[in-house]
Amino acid sequence: MSLMASSALSAAFSHSHRMATTQPSASIAGRRVTAVSCELKDEDNHVIDRRNVLLGLGGLYGAAATLGSQKKKAIGAPVHAPELSKCHLAEDSVTGEKVFCCLPYNERDIVEFVPPPPYEPIRVRRPAHKLDLEYVAKFEEAVARMKALPPNDPWNFMQQATIHCAYCNGAYDQVGFYPPVSLQVHGSWLFLPFHRLYLYFYERILGKLIGDPNFALPYWNWDSPEGMRMPEIYLNPSSPLYNPMRDKGHYAALFDYKYAVGDPNPEPSRDEHIVTHNLHHLHRMFKESERNPKLFMGKPVVAGEEVPSNASGNLENLHNIVHSWTGTSEAPYYDMGDFFTAARDIIFFGHHANVDRLWEIYNGFRGHIPEFKQEDWLEASFIFYDENRQVVRCKVKDCLTPQQLRYSYHPENLPWLHARQHYFRLKDKKPIAGEPAPVPVPAAPIYEFGPEPKPLVEPIQVIVPRPKISRTKFEKEAATEVLIIEGIEVPFGAAARFDVYVAKFVDGHIGPDIGELAGSFVKIPHSKHKFHLLHHKSSLELGITSLLEDIEADPLDKVVVTILPRIGEVKIRGIHIELVKVDPEY
Ligand code: C2O
Repeated sequence: MSLMASSALSAAFSHSHRMATTQPSASIAGRRVTAVSCELKDEDNHVIDRRNVLLGLGGLYGAAATLGSQKKKAIGAPVHAPELSKCHLAEDSVTGEKVFCCLPYNERDIVEFVPPPPYEPIRVRRPAHKLDLEYVAKFEEAVARMKALPPNDPWNFMQQATIHCAYCNGAYDQVGFYPPVSLQVHGSWLFLPFHRLYLYFYERILGKLIGDPNFALPYWNWDSPEGMRMPEIYLNPSSPLYNPMRDKGHYAALFDYKYAVGDPNPEPSRDEHIVTHNLHHLHRMFKESERNPKLFMGKPVVAGEEVPSNASGNLENLHNIVHSWTGTSEAPYYDMGDFFTAARDIIFFGHHANVDRLWEIYNGFRGHIPEFKQEDWLEASFIFYDENRQVVRCKVKDCLTPQQLRYSYHPENLPWLHARQHYFRLKDKKPIAGEPAPVPVPAAPIYEFGPEPKPLVEPIQVIVPRPKISRTKFEKEAATEVLIIEGIEVPFGAAARFDVYVAKFVDGHIGPDIGELAGSFVKIPHSKHKFHLLHHKSSLELGITSLLEDIEADPLDKVVVTILPRIGEVKIRGIHIELVKVDPEY
């Protein structure tokens, strides 16, 4: 990180009070279908594009695609927009049903995206809990009109929601690979750019529908205490912003970032603790990843790479919790709780506007430098249907800043920026009188997982050596200390969550304090994607440089890592700590 960007971020963390951020027929889209009609299918009934087969056998991509093998080599090229005419049935991962999520404009000419001209007014996105009545009325009118469009219209509400399914539940394959590789925009560095562009067009279509070139989506400000409940505008059953497919038990509840599906609502007496924990979580997420965009944004994925969900960043993990908290509470977790249906709830767009806003804030902290400079990111592309009824191909490089796209976020307080001290004050409060004090237990030896992954059925506590102790400030700026949970296996498409805590290792004892929450692994159901693998393997990478400072563990050569299972069938292969070099340009 350049000195300038680095000091801007540190300054923001140390003394900012207020942070400004500039910051079939198509009509059955989304319905379950049972019959598959196609010419060539693989063993799991997926349509195979003949041209891909030929290419795989010796064409352009022959070197990359190993026919008949489970391993496909990534060819080191950006993930490209799909070939729209090669759509096949997608899959609802929870029920396993085949669903139709093809986009209705596959015959249209595609043009390259042209950014809006710089003289266009900036659309200002505001927090959903602070809108005036007039704004709400406009928003409702726009959504009502979108819902009233003919079902085949690409601007139709359900058609717009189907875009999400198409890019996530396996309706399209990447161009040029056999066996097929699904297109997937979650679980990697594609996550933030895809959703930014998706919202960009959605917002402009809504604006068109009410003839308002200034119309901006509201955002669900769940990173501030007043925004940690479902915004009221979405809760009025007679409003077009309402959706019955939500967890109604959460309508009045405070959103706890530690939520896992099925958890009871917190007692109101715990509100202060939860708010403090949530803010501290955000603080930590930003602070630990300030020098390492992969931790925040997700890891690289290139064309042809198998199931890219091994690479979610921590913002995506946090965003998943909001999905599962909002969606219905029992499987199948419609709507927000399942990627197949998530965008059928208009609150999705408020949620994602906030995710996008947090990206913009992160980008600002880093001096507005693109997070990755690889072509594989900048040139990755997606296709959308725009506000002029044109099919456009957009690239990641088109959406690096909201400024480029003529929108911004209304500046709000960032209460998490200085959330650290309050958190530690609260944490140090004496235990409640009369409760027996927990005692530390003698430490087990350093855990070796052996060749078999370990099922996470009860908390796992291990002692993990650190590569280097007492690093200097300079060393910390050059490399971040990263805790890596490797070889995480969860059944394809299934929901899962576990939490990772880090504590000091002292005097040969561990506990009773499990220490500080370093982060969580969170999956919500999405496509089962793919043909032969039973599980997908992921890893979770968590920055712990400042966490170790917080718990004064910097001089110690080992830490205690506790993994708390929450939901899902999870296995892990190992845990270790690495020093990850920072890109010297930043
Ligand atoms: Cu595409 Cu919040 O997910």
